[in-house]
Amino acid sequence: MTPTRRDLLGALVAYGLIETCWRRDLFAQEVRPTVDAWFKELGEMSADLRGRKLTDLQFQERMEALYRRVDLPALCRLIRLDEVERRKLPDNGALSAGFDLGSTGGLPAAPGFGKQIFGCGRGRSIVPHGHANMCTGFIVLKGRWVGKHYDRVETAADHYLIRPTIDKEFGPGEVSTISDHKDNIHWFRAATDGAYIFNVHLDGYDPRLGAGSGRLYLDPAGERVAGGLVKAVKMSSADCHRKYG
Ligand SMILES: [Fe+2]
Repeated sequence: MTPTRRDLLGALVAYGLIETCWRRDLFAQEVRPTVDAWFKELGEMSADLRGRKLTDLQFQERMEALYRRVDLPALCRLIRLDEVERRKLPDNGALSAGFDLGSTGGLPAAPGFGKQIFGCGRGRSIVPHGHANMCTGFIVLKGRWVGKHYDRVETAADHYLIRPTIDKEFGPGEVSTISDHKDNIHWFRAATDGAYIFNVHLDGYDPRLGAGSGRLYLDPAGERVAGGLVKAVKMSSADCHRKYG
């Protein structure tokens, strides 16, 4: 008996389903444990920072080392970057998308850190800002970014004195981190279309630093003053996005 068109279509659909399941199974068995272990290590070092077993500078070093050995395709798959990529990117500033880690092996339900994916179209920015009482780190997932960091040296009523520390192009897999004591301010502008960054952040990591305070917006294109510093005027989010978003 020759197969009908319907039989053939049915077989193709079944084959597709089997293939999808096989790929999912492969991910679950071979890739997932590596990403789970990676997130578990991130959770442990987050607990060590909060428990003051690590200083923020040590945490930054550890976080960067861990970030550098991430399995990037596996991370992108776990956090479903493909679904985020289907969303429209904003005309100004960055998209911020949450993701669910599900039952990532070994991580407690509250892993001790916040997480998100940032996305920008070409020329758009995660605008210049600093943080107070927060450690955070970026991994570029896709596209190229011009990334700048500054130390926040002094805080005055209407401005910060900042020192440029990093100014380079970042591609997939490249990383950068922030604490109150190193590279506290960042500004990432997408140099290509559809550029995405993975972000983890730990708010209020040290009670001695006082209450955390969201983003500290500023204008890094300020007056150059003595000692290689820049007088960066404080800005509102709206003004900062108008100028840099
Ligand atoms: Fe930030």
